[in-house]
Amino acid sequence: MKIHEYQGKEILRQFEVPVPRGIPAFTVQEAVEAAQKLGGPVWVVKAQIHAGGRGKGGGVKLARSIDEVKQLAGEILGMQLVTHQTGPEGQKVRRLLIEDGADIKKEYYVSAVTDRASQRVAIMASSEGGMDIEEVAHKTPE
Ligand SMILES: Nc1ncnc2c1ncn2[C@@H]1O[C@H](COP(=O)(O)OP(=O)(O)O)[C@@H](O)[C@H]1O
Ligand SMILES: [Mg+2]
Repeated sequence: MKIHEYQGKEILRQFEVPVPRGIPAFTVQEAVEAAQKLGGPVWVVKAQIHAGGRGKGGGVKLARSIDEVKQLAGEILGMQLVTHQTGPEGQKVRRLLIEDGADIKKEYYVSAVTDRASQRVAIMASSEGGMDIEEVAHKTPE
């Protein structure tokens, strides 16, 4: 089963895990309306594809005005987003998540993955955030 970030966050929200406020959008107009509803002053326009590494690939952008949300939504919607998880052909962006911009002090990473070798769910955590998690796991597995 594959779900998008906004769907995953909705599930976490139901279990009272704090996640940023966000609204999915399928068109530029919906992105603008979502941004107006959230109120700003900073928004993040996030491509919703079934792959990570979106930030590095240009699929996650900060906006400081409604106009900027509109411009970025127009650029990201429909783009063929290539990340190290999509393969060279990339994935077409058909939906966005417009989210409250967070003032980030420190980024951590935590995930639950199926470890086929041990036939268990493994929890993987890093104090170095999620960027380049594959490389972090490879070079500094501790
Ligand atoms: N709501 C947010 N507010 C501020 N910055 C964000 C927000 N969401 C994501 N970012 C920034 O964008 C980066 C990429 O977003 P992320 O959700 O980790 O996607 P991916 O892992 O696919 O690149 C994050 O590491 C963070 O620095
Ligand atoms: Mg990330």
